[in-house]
Amino acid sequence: MKKDLGVKSFLFPCPVAILGTYDEQGSVNVMNMAWGTLIDTNMILCCLTEEHKTCKNLKAGSDLTIAIATKDLVKESDYFGIDSGNTVKDKFARSGLHVVKSQHVNAPVIEEYPLTLECKTHAIRHDEDGNFFVYAEIVNVLADETILNEKGMVDVKKLNAILFSQIDNSYYEVGDIVGKAWNLGLPFRGK
Ligand SMILES: Cc1cc2nc3c(=O)[nH]c(=O)nc-3n(C[C@H](O)[C@H](O)[C@H](O)COP(=O)(O)O)c2cc1C
Repeated sequence: MKKDLGVKSFLFPCPVAILGTYDEQGSVNVMNMAWGTLIDTNMILCCLTEEHKTCKNLKAGSDLTIAIATKDLVKESDYFGIDSGNTVKDKFARSGLHVVKSQHVNAPVIEEYPLTLECKTHAIRHDEDGNFFVYAEIVNVLADETILNEKGMVDVKKLNAILFSQIDNSYYEVGDIVGKAWNLGLPFRGK
């Protein structure tokens, strides 16, 4: 028996993506974003509330970095989704984390996150419902050596990424591999 639950934002799971930007004075700001997704091989659509300091920075010309939040940084990552750089001027400094300037885009790279997508602000669009969309073009991916496998690719298990659940407003860790994509389903072709 299934039950109707009505309209809920239950697309599960959402990423925990940490957006890094600069303001016009070069100060770092960071925010937590769950409503972001790939829309092309090199493009991420970020669905943001326009009042965020992050959006002000992007409108003023900043690019952005998108770091994948990890289990050991869950508290810092959550904090980046609570306070706003609009009112808390030392928001990033409070986390105790460190940044360097990206070598590829005009945005800060947070050193402690092991996987960071360096993105150009490709476009900013509003829709008729008042939504604010940022198209982030991936121009490079920066990975710590500590999360790479022997082939030099990211080992998802070493990354220790976390996921966000809009169902219960909680963070989850990534579990085990259950199979290879574009592979497990192949036996159905033979039927
Ligand atoms: C788990 C989580 C996910 C969030 N996802 C989004 C999101 O996808 N889009 C958005 O606009 N705000 C999102 N927020 C809220 C912003 O991160 C929050 O308002 C933040 O303070 C904005 O920071 P800023 O004003 O310094 O840019 C999220 C917050 C949390 C805790």
